[in-house]
Amino acid sequence: MKFDIFTLFPEVFQPYLNASIIKRARVNGLIEVNLHNIRDYTVDRHHTTDDMPYGGGGGMVMKPEPVFSSIESVLGKPPDIPVILMTPQGRLFTQEVAKELSSLPHIALLCGHYEGIDERIREHLVTDEISIGDYVLTGGELPALIVIDAVSRYLPGVLGDPTGTEDDSHASGLLEYPHYTRPPVFRDWPVPEILLSGNHAAIDKWRLQQSLLRTSEKRPDMMEKYLKRQNKD
Ligand code: ADE
Repeated sequence: MKFDIFTLFPEVFQPYLNASIIKRARVNGLIEVNLHNIRDYTVDRHHTTDDMPYGGGGGMVMKPEPVFSSIESVLGKPPDIPVILMTPQGRLFTQEVAKELSSLPHIALLCGHYEGIDERIREHLVTDEISIGDYVLTGGELPALIVIDAVSRYLPGVLGDPTGTEDDSHASGLLEYPHYTRPPVFRDWPVPEILLSGNHAAIDKWRLQQSLLRTSEKRPDMMEKYLKRQNKD
């Protein structure tokens, strides 16, 4: 899957894209991430990417010309792939949205900055808007990395274990059960005996019980949704 990222700060992506599972996915050709600096598409001497808002008020607004120029130069006019704006006004990014995007071969992520972007970008260039949560960050770079990460996990071969996404917290609508590894006793704290029993049916049952328990304790909202879905099926 291919990601084209349009940003004023491409350098913030490098460390994350060059580490761990996402690096391996890139090296193995499972994902391709291309970074485009919007500033490279300015034509004035000062490489201006923002300007004062019409109507007054605080803050600066991202200018339309370099954003249109960067995206259209790379993707065509009009682009024939989804152009997703990272913004706190977008639809909430959930595991379901990550899965949905993972079925697409190619997406563009536009990282907003300053107080906002010229509305004509939203109206005439952007095809989707995503928020990673109800809080406001200084820019869309971290949200874009989060989207790349969560979406990539769904692509075949990205996770070492092909069942990796099935047990995830949120994938099933339940939080994940607790995990343990060696040693069997650490500082007087033993691993639950059932996990050492070798009885896989019993272990599966215990894990499901733990998932249900955790979800109802920590996320009653998720539990309610889960139960509603169970009753429908
Ligand atoms: N840009 C600033 N805050 C954001 C958020 N919560 N989600 C996506 N993009 C953003």
